[in-house]
Amino acid sequence: MRVAHVAALAASLTLALLVAMPAAAEETASAPEAPDSSVDDTTAFENDTYERGRSLFAQCSRCHELDPLRANRIGPNLFSILGRPAAALQDFRYSQGMRAAAQDGLVWSRDALDRFIADPRSVVRRTSMNYRGMEDATARADLVTFLTGVTPGEYAPQTPVATDGAATEIGAAAMALEGDAAYGEYLSGECVTCHQETGANEGIPGIVGWPRDAFIRALFEYKTNVRSHQVMQLVTSNLGDEEIAALAAYFEQLGE
Ligand code: HEC
Ligand code: HEC
Repeated sequence: MRVAHVAALAASLTLALLVAMPAAAEETASAPEAPDSSVDDTTAFENDTYERGRSLFAQCSRCHELDPLRANRIGPNLFSILGRPAAALQDFRYSQGMRAAAQDGLVWSRDALDRFIADPRSVVRRTSMNYRGMEDATARADLVTFLTGVTPGEYAPQTPVATDGAATEIGAAAMALEGDAAYGEYLSGECVTCHQETGANEGIPGIVGWPRDAFIRALFEYKTNVRSHQVMQLVTSNLGDEEIAALAAYFEQLGE
């Protein structure tokens, strides 16, 4: 259990940034800059800049989704990319090159995004992203503005992901899954560094014994920024439907 616990933690770069865990400390020796909190500052965007960025995203949408409830494509989901450390999604297989860059502390600030879009290989030499680059600096600035300002559900050009019309509720796809409690127990190692396993409410809310749908909804509300709490947003950005369903099953059963 202890080993699984530490492994789960070390695997989560975003968490290692936020939780002062000695076991994961070597990973963060070069201390990447803190996530950019200007994400919420949507009022600052000029509309036409944003709209131009939206049409430029057509060059990326072949490979990237931009809605938190959608799976990765050829490239990782880019929802909430601003301030995200490179190679942070656990359900995407990044190249060696991208993982090395992440270890060197690459974080997707506006500037890093701009340079990567201009010429991917100048930022991550052996990236597997097969994109030539965008030369026009104004176009890049517009695209980055769009990328960093898009809200959940706003960019959904393809057919909806969830099946059977159950998609209207947030987290519906995860609610439809059984939820593997044993997998949930494994994943919970990350959670109980903050939330008490006993279910106690001491500063940090108790999460034991919740009905699973409510639990799933809460996690998706962080994942899609409906609830704003930076730590929980980062925690959930790494979790897919299956992980969230598993955690809900485990914590529900823990309360019985
Ligand atoms: C042909 C497919 C393809 C196209 C087109 C493409 N990408 Fe990518 N992108 C990828 C792949 C694959 C990766 C993962 C790269 C790696 O692991 O080295 C990636 C990675 C990224 C990352 C890093 C994400 C992370 O989690 O660290 C960003 C940012 C990004 N792409 C932005 C863009 C933008 C913006 C565009 C459009 C201008 C674009 N990409 C076009 C395939 C593509
Ligand atoms: C670094 C500390 C930390 C970690 C790690 C963490 N949480 Fe949280 N969590 C919090 C805090 C603080 C809140 C209260 C946030 C708020 O005010 O919205 C919270 C809120 C929640 C809530 C909503 C509680 C409520 O009363 O509405 C749920 C559910 C939850 N966390 C589940 C999890 C799960 C599952 C994990 C592991 C995958 C996890 N958390 C990992 C700190 C953490």
